[in-house]
Amino acid sequence: LKGIFAYLNYRVPRTRKEIFETLVKGLLRLEYRGYDSAGIAVDGPNKSTTDINGNKICMIKKTGKVKALDEELYKKDSLDLDEELNTHFGIAHTRWATHGEPSALNCHPQRSDKDNEFVVIHNGIITNYKELKKYLMTKGYEFESETDTEVIPKLIKYVYDERESNSVSFSTLVERVIQQLEGAFALVFKSRHFPGEAVSTRRGSPLLIGVRSEHKLSTEQIPVQYNSGDDSKRTDLSVSIHSAIIEHTNKVLYLEDDDIAVVKEGKLSILRMKRKAGDDPVRAIQTLQMEMQQIMKGNFEAFMQKEIFEQPESVVNTMRGRICFDTNTVVLGGLKDHLKEIKRCRRLIMIGCGTSFHAAVATRQILEELTELPVMVELASDFLDRNTPVFRDDVCFFISQSGETADTLMALRYCKSRGALTVGITNTVGSSICRETDCGVHINAGPEIGVASTKAYTSQFVALIMFALMMSEDRISLRQRRLEIINDLKMLPEHIKKVLSLDDKIKDIANELYQQRSLLVMGRGFNYATCLEGALKIKEITYMHSEGILAGELKHGPLALIDREMPVIMVIMRDACYIKCQNALQQVTARSGRPIIICSQDDDEVTKNAYQSVALPHIVDCLQGILSVIPLQLLSFHLAVLRGYDVDCPRNLAKSVTVE
Ligand code: AGP
Repeated sequence: LKGIFAYLNYRVPRTRKEIFETLVKGLLRLEYRGYDSAGIAVDGPNKSTTDINGNKICMIKKTGKVKALDEELYKKDSLDLDEELNTHFGIAHTRWATHGEPSALNCHPQRSDKDNEFVVIHNGIITNYKELKKYLMTKGYEFESETDTEVIPKLIKYVYDERESNSVSFSTLVERVIQQLEGAFALVFKSRHFPGEAVSTRRGSPLLIGVRSEHKLSTEQIPVQYNSGDDSKRTDLSVSIHSAIIEHTNKVLYLEDDDIAVVKEGKLSILRMKRKAGDDPVRAIQTLQMEMQQIMKGNFEAFMQKEIFEQPESVVNTMRGRICFDTNTVVLGGLKDHLKEIKRCRRLIMIGCGTSFHAAVATRQILEELTELPVMVELASDFLDRNTPVFRDDVCFFISQSGETADTLMALRYCKSRGALTVGITNTVGSSICRETDCGVHINAGPEIGVASTKAYTSQFVALIMFALMMSEDRISLRQRRLEIINDLKMLPEHIKKVLSLDDKIKDIANELYQQRSLLVMGRGFNYATCLEGALKIKEITYMHSEGILAGELKHGPLALIDREMPVIMVIMRDACYIKCQNALQQVTARSGRPIIICSQDDDEVTKNAYQSVALPHIVDCLQGILSVIPLQLLSFHLAVLRGYDVDCPRNLAKSVTVE
């Protein structure tokens, strides 16, 4: 863990300073993924000499922010910043401690030996590192860090020292190394034995290669195991994930598991150990649709705030081209060929983690109503722990913003192996979940940078509603219900804008609450998911204790928490649960509780019992959750700012959780 970025310039002269700047910028773009230390490796001075001893690799590593590393880079007197390097390969990494505390030794790149013959950056986890370490130690290797990663550079050196001849290539060495590795990884290798050469590979962790050439690329496809033409005579190449690459190029290539990408003499080739039947023999160069300004913060204080305020547009982007408001029809292109099969299934299983799981909870009731199928909602980790029975006639949904969450991905593989039809609901085109599912829906919410998920949630919500609508298209008895929902979906952006206009009021509430230690969020029915999601947002970025409570459970325990001091937020809407919610409200006020109520517009009955209230526009019951979550997104944001925390990078958390 966490972010990797590498940059190779081939016959495009760059000063060492420019290379530093590119690497640091790449890391800054990955900052949102969360990390506690950072490091880089570049060629040292005298690179031009052909003597191997001339090819020194220099590593600079630092705990803390990328900014601290950046400052450190310029302190190295031995490195001439103005030296021009015609061809150069630099690697950079931000680490999030899993094995061993944050320290310069544990930070990446990790190295093979004191001479830095091989250096490696790694994202993911090596599960058999203990066995490998033990073996390498018997061979005399001395380990200096507590990381799992360190076995990789040591292993490649071992394989190098044991090579049968001098003609063994860098990529062959890497191929031999990954055969021994278990776990998940995205890796980039650099070696003083192979100057100007880059090798990278992945298994289970995301990795993407960006290509920029002064010449037009003569091919849009890189054949596997085939050295593509010489169109890359002058090439800039970077390896990373989307947001770090986009400022260099929008031409990208996704690696498959166990692909090895090599750049040698400016030429990119993709190698694989074995060719399996059904393997695609080429990797297509794709054009990323993401624009730089899309991922910039603009006038907002934080990405999270920007993303909350983008929701009037992001929900429209989710519906665009899918709902026809003239004919009241819904077509999800990615599912339409599988619709018959889905309709025949015996149950739907919705699987996700965190916020993505809440999107399943939020839409379960309307899915049950419109599909008339049993719907299970599952947290991916628990689903796997239970070895849940899954059958061929089940349809399993995998909901994930990043499309890379390890637990969700493993649940997907588990369901696939049992013959179920798998459907992905993701926000990341080309992600693992997106590629491994049988079919799916892109939520098209646009890049979400803040660790706390906001606009992805409301777009997942809308995508699942659209699925329910599509499933019920031919049901006459549901016609009225469907029309009502479609009509309110059309109004959704306007309604969201109205909710966002309550921001000042919510900020005032945050001002009252930010010194509290705990915050309860209570509701039921269509709004229960809002309580879970609101509480998750609050704990995630404000570090306050917060709990989403099903109002129906109040008397079974949580009521004991209620007194004058305990802050309680209640979601009470005019729907089928209205009376029951009022009942809960009375229970709270009877114990001197002072509820802050999120309610429907013009509800005097409820507001008169509220300590504070936030009134939302009227909308059909099953869409209320989209509106009611927004005040809680805003509240958590303001609380975090008032408490002085980094909203986009909460402590201990990362944007995509690529380990179990
Ligand atoms: C949301 O605010 C959290 N950061 C987290 O719960 C997240 O939703 C979860 O890790 C799942 O991520 P995914 O949607 O990318 O799979």
